[in-house]
Amino acid sequence: MKHAHILVTGGSSGIGYALVNRLLKAGHQVTATTRKPDDQSPRPGLTWVGLDLESNASVDAFLNNPCWDQPVDIVVNNAGFGLIAPIESASDEAVRAQFEANYFATMRITRHAMAHFRQHGAGTIMANTSIGGRMAFPYFGYYNATKHALEASYESLWYECMQSNIRVKIIEPGFTQTQFATHGMRTSGADHPAHVDGLSWLEHSMKTGTTASNPDVVAAVMERALFDNRHTLRYAAGKHSDALLFLRKALPDSWFQAIIGKAVLRGQKTT
Ligand SMILES: NC(=O)c1ccc[n+]([C@@H]2O[C@H](COP(=O)([O-])OP(=O)(O)OC[C@H]3O[C@@H](n4cnc5c(N)ncnc54)[C@H](OP(=O)(O)O)[C@@H]3O)[C@@H](O)[C@H]2O)c1
Repeated sequence: MKHAHILVTGGSSGIGYALVNRLLKAGHQVTATTRKPDDQSPRPGLTWVGLDLESNASVDAFLNNPCWDQPVDIVVNNAGFGLIAPIESASDEAVRAQFEANYFATMRITRHAMAHFRQHGAGTIMANTSIGGRMAFPYFGYYNATKHALEASYESLWYECMQSNIRVKIIEPGFTQTQFATHGMRTSGADHPAHVDGLSWLEHSMKTGTTASNPDVVAAVMERALFDNRHTLRYAAGKHSDALLFLRKALPDSWFQAIIGKAVLRGQKTT
């Protein structure tokens, strides 16, 4: 595909921003979403559209936006945030907001994109899940659950599109140095001292270069996946993602859990 019309949710920072840069550089026409369209700088080839995944009215407005009036070739469901909370003490409200944004609204956009692709006879849809869509980490349980739900739905969708010109893709980044660890994470019910230690380990891992990748590394894998014209479903991206996904498959659960537990909970006392 030479010059495509590509829609990227969450194009204002991190992985989405890096992907938008790559797509514009390659000469594509990009429509990107943000909750703050008035704060974004205009760029040739790029249109900003408002989208708040936690507001039904905003998702409605986005699905009725004129950007869908011309053929959209590719939709990248990238926007999302992380609820970082112990399972036992997160508030109902925080858990619902997490599922609303990362799963329910993302799947509404997916259904809309599918109808659009069926009408035009072709298309590519991608979800940015995480390695945390295939395994779970302490304090990331609700976030991981939204990404597991996306993984299952996109795997189903892949089968449902097998005999069509619609490509279904999942990108599974490891820790990536974005705004996620600063602005993109919300905490709930995490004030117990043991939890505070685990949370600071996670925050550190997402910010430091030894464990986290530059977002452009992830965007490069996404760009390749979007244009490889293959029916491949899953793509690992970034530091340690291949290794962790391999270990998850190869090791018995108890061994894998021991490795993750030791890494995250190192230095914590059992309570
Ligand atoms: N960073 C990591 O370690 C990592 C690892 C694996 C997967 N991921 C996934 O990668 C995706 C992008 O995250 P990132 O790391 O690039 O984080 P980021 O820098 O915080 O970017 C998040 C993007 O999503 C948008 N967004 C966040 N909450 C939203 C909401 N409620 N409604 C609409 N848009 C929203 C933001 O746009 P505005 O603020 O402008 O609205 C922003 O453009 C997420 O789905 C995340 O789960 C991240």
